[in-house]
Amino acid sequence: MDGPRGFFIAFEGGEGAGKSTQESRLARALAEAGHRVVRTREPGGTPAAEAIRHVVLSPEFDGLDPRAEALLFAAARGEHVARIVRPALERGDVVVCDRYLDSSVAYQGYGRDLGAEHVRDLSLWATRGLLPDLTVVLDVDPQVGLARVDDPDRLEAEPLAYHQAVRAAFVDIAAQDPGRYLVLDANGHVDAIASAILDRVTTDLAGR
Ligand code: TYD
Repeated sequence: MDGPRGFFIAFEGGEGAGKSTQESRLARALAEAGHRVVRTREPGGTPAAEAIRHVVLSPEFDGLDPRAEALLFAAARGEHVARIVRPALERGDVVVCDRYLDSSVAYQGYGRDLGAEHVRDLSLWATRGLLPDLTVVLDVDPQVGLARVDDPDRLEAEPLAYHQAVRAAFVDIAAQDPGRYLVLDANGHVDAIASAILDRVTTDLAGR
């Protein structure tokens, strides 16, 4: 086979943007339409990547070096892509992933000031260049989103200015390649957001 045949959708956005609700709505609608859907998340998705998830998110590791943080997210991503995402795409499945490479570019590249290019290249190396076919960005004001978070993890506990930089980063990244992104205001009605996402995915799937 000359590469993946399935369809890879990533969801991105700040904290409390309502990604999980929209991911499950989309996954259900696609399954009802007859697609085989794999729902997964980053960091995580395999036992080793879930172990890395614990290290990067636990407040226990407060003060983790930013480069070590970027490497750990990339390592988890490499493992997740090799074991879960690529095999699913090779089977022809639709993969719906909670966060992917752009989270690293936004949270580590912009948020930690490590440089978007370096961080992107690191993940491209880790994943042998796998990019989503479509990335849905749910845009939310961090003040609104963070108010919905109950028990903040290490990243969620960062100051508001950090989350504002992350928000601006997602919008910037999407603007650079609009054909592969759908940016939606997360304050819209849940049903309206769900149908905008399904419309776009249906169009993209039909155009393959
Ligand atoms: P999670 O609980 O999955 O957050 P959410 O429900 O908001 O998706 O935690 C993931 C956290 O890790 C989130 O704060 C974003 C951050 N993150 C990065 O900083 N870099 C990355 O590459 C990824 C995938 C996540």
